Amino acid sequence: MTLWNGRFAEKTDALVAKYSESISYDRRLYPFDIAGSKAHARMLAKQGIIPQEDADAIVKGLDQVLAEIEAGKFDFKEELEDIHMNVESRLTELIGKPGARLHTGRSRNDQIATDERLFMRHECTQLNEQLSAMQKAMLALAVKHKDVIMPGFTHLQHAQPVLFAHHLLAYVEMFGRDKERLEDCKNRLNRLPLGSGAIAGSTLPLDRQFVAEQLGFKEVTRNSMDSVADRDHIIEMLADLSIIAMHLSRLSEDIIIWFSQEFAFITLGDAFTTGSSLMPQKKNPDVAELTRGKTGRVYGHLMALLTTMKGLPLTYNRDLQEDKEGLFDALDTVSLALATMSAMLGTLEPRPERMRQAASDPALMATDLAEWLVRQGVPFREAHHQVGSLVGYCARSNKALDKVSLDEMRQCIPCATDECLLIFNPDHSISARKAMGGTALENVESQIAYWQNELA
Ligand code: ARG
Repeated sequence: MTLWNGRFAEKTDALVAKYSESISYDRRLYPFDIAGSKAHARMLAKQGIIPQEDADAIVKGLDQVLAEIEAGKFDFKEELEDIHMNVESRLTELIGKPGARLHTGRSRNDQIATDERLFMRHECTQLNEQLSAMQKAMLALAVKHKDVIMPGFTHLQHAQPVLFAHHLLAYVEMFGRDKERLEDCKNRLNRLPLGSGAIAGSTLPLDRQFVAEQLGFKEVTRNSMDSVADRDHIIEMLADLSIIAMHLSRLSEDIIIWFSQEFAFITLGDAFTTGSSLMPQKKNPDVAELTRGKTGRVYGHLMALLTTMKGLPLTYNRDLQEDKEGLFDALDTVSLALATMSAMLGTLEPRPERMRQAASDPALMATDLAEWLVRQGVPFREAHHQVGSLVGYCARSNKALDKVSLDEMRQCIPCATDECLLIFNPDHSISARKAMGGTALENVESQIAYWQNELA
């Protein structure tokens, strides 16, 4: 028995019931749906729209519904379509007549919009905690291996030596911005749509401000049509989740590369790698690969909702029900990825000797030589050209940059001195990068101090 069948002579076809239900997934909104209904009932009584004793009975009944759901004793019914009608119908079963007053001055359109905003506000907070845990895991690795050096890459080619900690802290920055984005999203969605009714607002003297205060919304939405039609806060959250997934995917790719036999820069714990059913020797970085793979699915949910929304005339259309599964899946996927990846980082160990060996290729210090020339007064473009010609000479004569004599060097770099031959040292190169944001140990230490303070 549906709650809207007054005008219908025929029963809903079973296929339609199956096609239109959302209770199989929107049931997870139950705590928010119930909280919204309790605040609404209290407001209706305060405004004299329903008797106070009915509101009291509603609030008590809703608490019982909540307890039943939490105890796993609630019988969710497909024919009641969604969480709203499942809760309301059970409430009326429990308390009788007063239950029939709850849906006064509201519609499922403003109700779902409210439930989703409450849910997302909660999820933003949870995700931010997980992002902080991720940052802490990376920070711990950076602190533990503060003086491990490695080659930094551009185009996946050796570029310049960097501290391993500097590389890790780059991700800590990214996850920090991810948190800011979620905070921003949370702030923007923290407005109460309830009281907008189906589309045009209500003829009843609702006190929406009171409901907003009860539910911790910072304000009330201004336009009832926008309130029931808009889902851009969900799109925004999916975009934020996509960016988090992208960051996790890049980290995964770094880990996969470092873990390959060719690089062999790191080891990972057995508990966070998997074997092959055929090749006995294999130890694969499947956690990182899955994270990289799941990113596609998160982006997919963003594209799906953008596409669902693009042709919808104002205001509510049932298409909007399709907003939920993608949001839930994107949240669950990113949340599990964060939990698993942070745990895996706890088992990651660098192999400092392998990393140092790769960072010791003197070609990585070519920029240092050019900057030495700049300090001697040579314009940078000229310095770049002179060092470039030395690199070319070395390639042709099959010599390493640090194996040329001073005379040979002077053929390309007229003002070269003995000092130049000392430049080809990765420790020297790193400690010289003292300008703000560079990879020198003191800079890395101040980044560590900054994040320790931020995350305390
Ligand atoms: N389950 C619906 C949704 O998620 C709730 C709103 C239904 N409104 C309606 N007019 N049928 O969108």
